[in-house]
Amino acid sequence: MLLHGNIKHIIGHRSPLIYGHFIEHFHRQIYGGIYDPNSPLSDEDGFRTDVIDALKKIKIPILRWPGGCFVSSYHWKDAVGSKRMPFFDKAWRVEDPSTFGTDEYIMLCRKINCEPYICTNAGTGTAEEMSDWVEYCNLETEGKYAKWRIENGFPSPHKVKYWSIGNENYGFWEIGAKDSKEWSRLVKESVKMIKHVDPLTQLSAAALTDLDWNIHLLTEAGDFLDWISIHQYWDPINQTNDYADYEQTMAYTHRIGHSIEKMRGLLTAMNLEKKIKIAFDEWNLRGWYHPNVHTIQQGITKEEYLYPRDKNDDNTKYTMADAIFTACFLNELNRNCDIVGMANYAPAVNTRGCIFTYPEGIVLRSTYHVFDLYVNYMGDIVLNTWSENMPFITVQNKAKENLDISALDILVSKWSDKPGIAVAAVNKNPLNFQSLQLDIAGAKGNVKHFCLMGESTESYNDINHEEVKIQKKDLGSFSDNREIILPPHSINIIQIL
Ligand code: AHR
Repeated sequence: MLLHGNIKHIIGHRSPLIYGHFIEHFHRQIYGGIYDPNSPLSDEDGFRTDVIDALKKIKIPILRWPGGCFVSSYHWKDAVGSKRMPFFDKAWRVEDPSTFGTDEYIMLCRKINCEPYICTNAGTGTAEEMSDWVEYCNLETEGKYAKWRIENGFPSPHKVKYWSIGNENYGFWEIGAKDSKEWSRLVKESVKMIKHVDPLTQLSAAALTDLDWNIHLLTEAGDFLDWISIHQYWDPINQTNDYADYEQTMAYTHRIGHSIEKMRGLLTAMNLEKKIKIAFDEWNLRGWYHPNVHTIQQGITKEEYLYPRDKNDDNTKYTMADAIFTACFLNELNRNCDIVGMANYAPAVNTRGCIFTYPEGIVLRSTYHVFDLYVNYMGDIVLNTWSENMPFITVQNKAKENLDISALDILVSKWSDKPGIAVAAVNKNPLNFQSLQLDIAGAKGNVKHFCLMGESTESYNDINHEEVKIQKKDLGSFSDNREIILPPHSINIIQIL
């Protein structure tokens, strides 16, 4: 394939927040994951230092918390101060000890040097409870909640800029689910009260790529909103855990940006595309495995609804399929950087996350290295390109339909603060090397090739088992139409500096 471009043809400046993450009070993400006070690997505040270091290496820019479904019956006041109230989490049907609350979360964000992004309880919560939370976090000394924070040992405000009203309150599975009219009214009253507490907050609200839902939401509350939140998991295996294989996963990369297209259209139709940005604040190839929770016939025994969650911890399942998909979606987020301002990989640690913890250490799953490549090796200015002779592959999706999809997914970037370009080239072909010729006007310098791959499409990383890693090659000086060979099932960053 021949790729044409020009370092002056700019699509936009992508926000660093598109490489954000999410962490929820679910299974071992928090307790036994990032927060493990009894671990010898934890610091004085109870945080796993190996996890902190790994999160810092991929420069997580923003971390959404505490849910997810969890938040829709969560009362933040149970988990601050000296008297923590353990409570039964009705979303995930376990007791939460409340030892990890707002102040611990802020400490975590400070340790990994990221923006906090708090999702509020719009299920059983109220506009007042949400705005009390903002008082606690953002007011200097005014009122009882700021004074409570000071009493708890935090004299300075936490300065939480990003807040979301609710999580998936459109869904029957969500505690406190609402119809579009109820939702728009609650959001409006909530954002009004929050803005009265701190007008500098940036507010999002749970949304769908659905006309009715968004017309009500944006008509009522659009004036107060800066973001609109959407979620997507492409392989819906929450109940079955029947992983899409490599070919079926490649089928999911076809029109991978469909939700973004739809939301862009809805915002444009309402003349809001310049005011409100998309926060794609939960995404992952695969849904989390938690059977018998969101159904009326809920699992009766813990063997039916609780213990199966441990199967999310099977590292052999996070292969090059997950890595290739993740790279294709990060490319799509970059291509839509004019309207997607934030995205949060769900989740960061354990479950389907890019980091897996065990008592003696961590495993960096294949997807972790994709974030490493994009955050540390790609530029922040997205360039426009066009291609000739795009190769295609035919894949079969889970519905047994055959799809012809592009074998390559290419993104070209440059830096706002230094010369050079960086090309992200994803080869989805499971068997064949692909040739990529670069005709990028203005590109000059030496070529470095960073390639993430394993021996096969099924390669994975696990405890004392590393198959997927980044390999670096120096390819000498760049010349026009320089051919780069892309290995099968690989993610490649080609830097020309
Ligand atoms: O499977 C996890 C859930 O997925 C999150 O809690 C929720 O936000 C989404 O539906």
